[in-house]
Amino acid sequence: MNDTQTLSQRADALEQKMSQELDYIVIKSRLYSMAEGDMGPPPNAAKLMAGNPNARVLMGDDPRLPSMPENPTLIDFFKYRFGPAAHLLQSARHAVNAGLPENMVLACLLHDISTIGFIRGDHGYWGAQLVEPYVDEEVTWAIRAHQVLRFYPDESVGYEYPHSYIKAFGADYRPDPYVEEDYKRMRNHKWYMSGRMITVHDIYSFDPDVKVELEEFTDVIGRNFRQPEQGLGFDNSPVAHMWRAMIRPAKYL
Ligand SMILES: [Fe+2]
Ligand SMILES: [Fe+2]
Repeated sequence: MNDTQTLSQRADALEQKMSQELDYIVIKSRLYSMAEGDMGPPPNAAKLMAGNPNARVLMGDDPRLPSMPENPTLIDFFKYRFGPAAHLLQSARHAVNAGLPENMVLACLLHDISTIGFIRGDHGYWGAQLVEPYVDEEVTWAIRAHQVLRFYPDESVGYEYPHSYIKAFGADYRPDPYVEEDYKRMRNHKWYMSGRMITVHDIYSFDPDVKVELEEFTDVIGRNFRQPEQGLGFDNSPVAHMWRAMIRPAKYL
């Protein structure tokens, strides 16, 4: 690798190589290049196409990803788009065993879908937004709240600040001011304990030998998630485009 090349030149060279090998060209959204620390200009689609006149930028399905049904359900997203979901399945099983009501089992099952399928930072806020049109308001509220409440102990239910956070963020880490502000609001909310319950069942030290299948929650999903008949992404809801972004994450426009 030539060290004098900038990151974006290297990315261009890689894209060029790919475009010669494939009959399609992948142009990533700005968010992905910024996540690589790349503030360079976007890849030049015209230049890339000139190098391979048969190639096109992606406007349809991405051949590198599993194809999705025309009217995708929540379960289809678990199967074809979300990464490994063991943590969510185990959290939901834990909630069932603790006797939580079904809507809260669903909240535990969905609390990190943004982490495994969309965007990590502020994942509780993104995750709540993704499901808002399809679940009880309490479920949305609790998913958003778990993002914040994870950082604050509550002795009354035996919830401690996670040891893994001390390791991951350092002992001197303090949540951002907007998280602190949200905590103050959430602490006094009527659904505080619903959000808190997600953190209680947000288990990382689960027995790795325990296998939980998504099918265990088919009925819970059926009764508590209002699956749109046109499919997630195609129901003209305020969040449909967010689900479409997961179906075609590299769509050019
Ligand atoms: Fe989370
Ligand atoms: Fe979690």
